[in-house]
Amino acid sequence: MSDPQFEIRPARDEDRVPLAILFAAVAEERDGIATEPPVDVEARAAGWTVDATLVAVAGSEVIGMIHVDASRFGFGEIGMATAREWRGRGVGSALLAAAIDWARERGLHKLSLSVFPHNAAAIALYRKFGFVEEGRRRKQFRRSSGELWDAVDMGLLL
Ligand SMILES: CC(C)(COP(=O)(O)OP(=O)(O)OC[C@H]1O[C@@H](n2cnc3c(N)ncnc32)[C@H](O)[C@@H]1OP(=O)(O)O)[C@@H](O)C(=O)NCCC(=O)NCCS
Repeated sequence: MSDPQFEIRPARDEDRVPLAILFAAVAEERDGIATEPPVDVEARAAGWTVDATLVAVAGSEVIGMIHVDASRFGFGEIGMATAREWRGRGVGSALLAAAIDWARERGLHKLSLSVFPHNAAAIALYRKFGFVEEGRRRKQFRRSSGELWDAVDMGLLL
């Protein structure tokens, strides 16, 4: 699972723009994440919560990221993405493992997320780490196409 071609580290200020560009590219796919284009890259970069983000980097390139939005109530909501050309090479697994450690170190008791039901790769990744399905929100997300997509809620007790 570990690949010497990339490493996981906490995000830094200089990662803001690469993170926003990666996020915008994944949004362009209109498939895995809720956000759809257009993404205002500059605004996204400025607003990015760098201290709650881990990045996967290959050389100087940001190829993946995971964000843990820690609530006041002890759970953290995660969002993650791997650059398309890097998928299926263990980047997501390495990011999620690191985020689980990160959350435990900060005393969170749970990680949770919502995922589209057709997102087989993400669901398989979360299951691999012990996340279980906790419910399904019907027709939760209105897409720019007009379609209404369900969302599956998943959680991991730490
Ligand atoms: C979900 C995502 C982050 C996974 O990242 P990744 O770097 O490809 O993950 P990995 O290579 O570590 O693969 C993790 C596991 O996912 C599963 N998996 C990967 N690709 C898969 C696919 N195409 N179909 C089914 N399962 C797949 C496997 O179980 C794999 O584990 P294994 O290699 O030990 O069998 C990536 O597909 C992505 O960025 N998608 C677009 C954004 C997105 O959907 N984010 C999540 C929103 S909830």
